Amino acid sequence: MAATTDWNAYDTEEMVRGDREYLWHHIKPHKVFQSAEQMIVVEGKGLMVKDIRGREYLDATSGGVWSVMVGHGRESIAKAIYDQLITLGYYAGSVGNIPTIKFAAKLVELLPNLHKVYFSNSGSEANEKAFKIVRQLSNIDPERKGKYKILYRDRDYHGTTIGALSATGQHQRKQHFGPFAEGFAAFPHALCYRCPFDKSYPGCNVDCARALEDVILREGPDTVGACIVEPITAGGGIIVPVPEYYPILQEICRKYNIYLIMDEVVCGFGRTGKFWGFEQYDVDPDMVTMAKGLASSYMPLSATVVRQGLYDKFLCDPSDPEKGINYFRDISTYGGCAGATVAALESTRIIEEENLVENSRIVGQYLLEGLQALSDMPLVGDVRGKGLFCGLELVKDKASKAPISEADMARMMGLVTAEGVLIGRTNSSLPGNNTIMNFAPALVATQTDIDEIVAAVKNAIEKF
Ligand SMILES: Cc1ncc(COP(=O)(O)O)c(C=O)c1O
Repeated sequence: MAATTDWNAYDTEEMVRGDREYLWHHIKPHKVFQSAEQMIVVEGKGLMVKDIRGREYLDATSGGVWSVMVGHGRESIAKAIYDQLITLGYYAGSVGNIPTIKFAAKLVELLPNLHKVYFSNSGSEANEKAFKIVRQLSNIDPERKGKYKILYRDRDYHGTTIGALSATGQHQRKQHFGPFAEGFAAFPHALCYRCPFDKSYPGCNVDCARALEDVILREGPDTVGACIVEPITAGGGIIVPVPEYYPILQEICRKYNIYLIMDEVVCGFGRTGKFWGFEQYDVDPDMVTMAKGLASSYMPLSATVVRQGLYDKFLCDPSDPEKGINYFRDISTYGGCAGATVAALESTRIIEEENLVENSRIVGQYLLEGLQALSDMPLVGDVRGKGLFCGLELVKDKASKAPISEADMARMMGLVTAEGVLIGRTNSSLPGNNTIMNFAPALVATQTDIDEIVAAVKNAIEKF
């Protein structure tokens, strides 16, 4: 590569070659890039992203993984990061710094029943911290002795590290990575379209939620410490549980002294049309984990936020020869570094000032209705969603609900991209059922943007 200190300067063909030669892309089968060219993105503004060949797309994925909440190219976030870095670039999270204190206070304002914020770098890590909290308490808290197990829901995803993957209910994401960590067990998913009990709502007794109790009893209530769920399942196919679901889940957790952990990595910061996904329901989690939209992905940042009473269990006298070691002995080099929390402060300010959560609710409903209007088309099996977060499941036969093939799904996605719109899909998650398109534009999306997204899908299905 040519030597330069202008890091934005590039030669197109050199970059295309460099991408093929040096870069190992996330979750991509690379053999295809020996013949096909991988996309290289070079610019973004609002919902628009441009690739290295000069093609512009409407980004209905918020940066590929639903995280750029305020849209691309926000100068005020870049400026806040710059100002912070020249004031204090870095100091470890074992001490405080100004934007990190301010942002922790902001999160507690936004989560009034929770009071302590532990920062890290990614959603996986935020969930690992939650698991470590549960496990440490199972060793140091007499009321929770031995309650170390974590229950997770089928089809939910909680991250890529071995602990978080052990708590993940997507068989393909886990395939070939075992053996997994001990102390994790699954309970059924909550997707009505493919009800695990072959029932229909209402009239199903919400058995999918009640099934949690069976798993607790099977595992032994004295061994179960927590239950982790995504308020609305994201990568597992945009699953919106019915309104009664979480109150039932919560009641079961309370009955057995089990913490309820809400993984807001995707749903938090307005994605579903409320600030937090769990606010769609009558439920009050004990811990909330978050990442992605926290700083709109302008910087890496995640957090694990807990109740005061839970945090208090870690307060110990360090000079106590026996219990002095009972504080939370966890560390993260970059967790809560000032450049990231300042980006989060500015991103959250934008979300509030521009009323983007309400926009997500209103424009999201418009998106849902636009996609539902395609329900009579061939291949469209189910449409579901909340806020600016929708899914469209493709089936080859509406009666049997048999999904289309992987090859057909890939072809369909190519047709949508050819329309100039980037959307997402279930990806290497659910064997035989990675056929759910997902839609998650930045929260600044307008009805005109939605019209363009829906038209692209309609055209793709017609051309298929
Ligand atoms: C619900 C959920 N939790 C956790 C994670 C893991 O986050 P990260 O990729 O930042 O580790 C993801 C990633 O997509 C996610 O969707």
